[in-house]
Amino acid sequence: MALKKDVDLNSVIAKPLTLKVHSDYIAAYGENKEDYEYCMTEYLRMSGIYWGLTAMALMGELDRMNKDEVLQFVRSCQDPVSGGISSSPGHDPHLLYTLSALQILSIYDEKLSDQEQDKVVNYIKSLQQPSGSFIGDKWGEEDTRFSFCAVACLSLIGRLNDIDVEKATEFVVSCMNFDGGFGSRPGSESHAGLIYCCVGYFSVVGRLDLVDADTLGWWLCERQLPSGGLNGRPEKLPDVCYSWWVLASLSMLGRLHWVDKQKLCTFISACQDSEGGFADRPGNMPDPFHTLFGLAALSLLGESTLQVVDPTYCMPKSVINKLRLSPQRLDVS
Ligand code: FPP
Ligand code: ZN
Repeated sequence: MALKKDVDLNSVIAKPLTLKVHSDYIAAYGENKEDYEYCMTEYLRMSGIYWGLTAMALMGELDRMNKDEVLQFVRSCQDPVSGGISSSPGHDPHLLYTLSALQILSIYDEKLSDQEQDKVVNYIKSLQQPSGSFIGDKWGEEDTRFSFCAVACLSLIGRLNDIDVEKATEFVVSCMNFDGGFGSRPGSESHAGLIYCCVGYFSVVGRLDLVDADTLGWWLCERQLPSGGLNGRPEKLPDVCYSWWVLASLSMLGRLHWVDKQKLCTFISACQDSEGGFADRPGNMPDPFHTLFGLAALSLLGESTLQVVDPTYCMPKSVINKLRLSPQRLDVS
């Protein structure tokens, strides 16, 4: 049998979860606005703030973030013409950053004014295509990532019925492959990140019945490698963020128990940096993206020192419960 591409955890000592070090890492990230790494990530700042805030919320440390500064930043990124929200002031609006912004507002229990909300809704509506798909911005191509972003945004503000959900669903269904998985467009290869988006899409619109949960659940649990880590496609190395994309999908499908939880916990813990944060693989540089998805995956695995995460929205379940989203999503944990 051919050996699977993997990392060797035999030389890595089992690491306990060091939440205090991780919250210090997130709290310090972005404090020095002149920092090279901080400047180079301006094009994704809004998502960066969502990753950091959610990580802190899951660790019960949200109070350490500067709420007023964050909310003022979010409001400064709404484009007055299109209504969409950008990564940073002066950048073009995009569905991805619009979702991050609405997630941030929800975490802080803040609402847009009716007028601002109508503008966001019109922006999202303007991105729906005749096929039912969504483009990420006026320049972009259709992609199932944006179908998820569109319905997740609208559901967070209770406006799901403002788009053609039936047509949008038809498009996502048309991206289903013979292996039960999904890609970015009809006929594209199954990919765990896009599977998360499509399963998340069905979860938001209350149509998880459209997924072949057994076939897809099998493909997803096949992503677990001997090290315990999960990859995003066959023949790829394991990566902490795929612990989230795969596990959240399995959780929405009610098949979380199909992976070896203990081995996955060991892999994720091995990705912790001693100076704080998680990297994609043991020994690599940590970043806020992998820190959030490492912590969120540990929360799904039942880590009791973390807040419970919602597998559809990747936000604390307490925030989602408070919003009482409709239509009722199938809850199959
Ligand atoms: C891998 O991308 C990940 C994805 C394609 C999923 C992205 C998810 C969203 C856009 C939805 C928003 C997410 C949340 C949590 C609310 P990659 O480009 O790193 O893929 P690669 O590993 O193949 O390079
Ligand atoms: Zn990754």
